[in-house]
Amino acid sequence: MGKLKIGIIGFGTVGKGVYQILNGEKDTHPILKQIEIANIVVKNISKKRGLNIKENLLINDPNKLIDDPSIDVIVEVMGGTDVAKNIILKSLKAGKSVVTANKAVMARFGEEIHKVALENGAYILFEAAVCGGIPIIEPLKRSLKSNQIIKMAGIINGTTNFILSRMSTEKASFQESLDLAQKLGYAELDPSADVEGQDAADKISILSELAFGGKIDRNKIDTEGINKIELKDIEYADKLGFEIKLLAVSERNNDNDIIDSLPLNIWVGPTLIPKIHPLSTIEGVNNAILVSGDPIGEIMLYGPGAGSGPTASSVVSDILNLKALSIKNDILQDRFVDPLLSFDFWRKCHVIDSEQISKKNYLRIICEDTPGVIGKIGNTFGNNNVSIESIVQLDARANEAEIVVITHHVPKGNIDLSKNQLNALPEVKFIASQLNCI
Ligand SMILES: NC(=O)c1ccc[n+]([C@@H]2O[C@H](COP(=O)([O-])OP(=O)(O)OC[C@H]3O[C@@H](n4cnc5c(N)ncnc54)[C@H](OP(=O)(O)O)[C@@H]3O)[C@@H](O)[C@H]2O)c1
Repeated sequence: MGKLKIGIIGFGTVGKGVYQILNGEKDTHPILKQIEIANIVVKNISKKRGLNIKENLLINDPNKLIDDPSIDVIVEVMGGTDVAKNIILKSLKAGKSVVTANKAVMARFGEEIHKVALENGAYILFEAAVCGGIPIIEPLKRSLKSNQIIKMAGIINGTTNFILSRMSTEKASFQESLDLAQKLGYAELDPSADVEGQDAADKISILSELAFGGKIDRNKIDTEGINKIELKDIEYADKLGFEIKLLAVSERNNDNDIIDSLPLNIWVGPTLIPKIHPLSTIEGVNNAILVSGDPIGEIMLYGPGAGSGPTASSVVSDILNLKALSIKNDILQDRFVDPLLSFDFWRKCHVIDSEQISKKNYLRIICEDTPGVIGKIGNTFGNNNVSIESIVQLDARANEAEIVVITHHVPKGNIDLSKNQLNALPEVKFIASQLNCI
């Protein structure tokens, strides 16, 4: 039985990790030795790589791999959207299975890519695209397949978790924490996709498609980042028994509402999490995701959400799945398509409008330190059917007070109305922040 011949596109953080696993001398399963890297495509062929690689391994034309009939699998680890998407589609159309770590492409063009893969009897595998080294795609596709998935909630962006952990433990500002994340290589030079929540929205969109079986309109996910969080919020959250984390949530809304499409409540945003909740303990660049299913109940997957070794571990596990299938196909003398490894949508889903979502809220209100102000604030919420869990004055200085309100679950519309009326009160100077609570 021959080796599985792969072509890798990209030799950066992830590509080098893949190369090292496949060329390592560790005591791993012998199937790893049945993978052969034909060539690796890079942009700049003369760049120093810091690895002892064989001559002529690096090339700069991806078509040499895609058009080569002896190559079984294309591994896309170059990143970006348009060029990477075209490489993936072209490879699938050539009948080659593709392994990718590219969440941006899978979140935006997943529907088209899955379709082309199925039409050509090829696979698109993307374990590394969500939560780096944590196996989450494969469990959703296989191990949890006997369940009805109810909800997923997770910390799925390591950069923002590192920043928030620093702000909480070291009392460092957002900017200082971001600067350190960039210095340590945890944040990119342009960190906007991470700190504005877009990376987490890509990932929860991909997970929702797998878990609930329908195409997700990625642009409808209510997404907020961590760039407006102040140390004051971290400090007050701590005093009230919470940690602030960037949470991504996706849950079935209400099965009674299903007519021809499953309504999903999907959002990403900074959230106060009670310190006794398992997600509050996730520190640094680690990720964790809670999956609730029926009948399994709740499970939590935890581990490194990025980095060379962890991400490459997921990429190589996908390559090994393809090798195992090719062994089976050689025995069967047929082209068996594994229905749990391939993916096809099985129903319609839609993301419900954020106005209809009920959430608990944390609001920090800066106002004049005058008698009766807490009562006036409380009445304003009450008049808009916003029930309050707690209202406390946490700081008072020269004629100015900071009032923190935590509400029960209320629709966004009621909170927005309350905020407008609060801003019109003469005692209220401004609303400094509004965050989610669980
Ligand atoms: N880094 C992580 O921890 C991590 C975790 C999960 C997922 N991912 C995903 O994995 C993918 C790769 O990330 P990375 O961090 O490894 O990126 P990276 O370090 O920037 O490496 C990108 C590689 O792709 C090559 N490349 C870029 N554009 C190219 C082009 N047009 N033609 C040919 N080669 C090209 C680059 O070539 P040169 O070396 O010549 O510049 C480089 O080798 C991304 O989709 C990312 O979102 C990364």
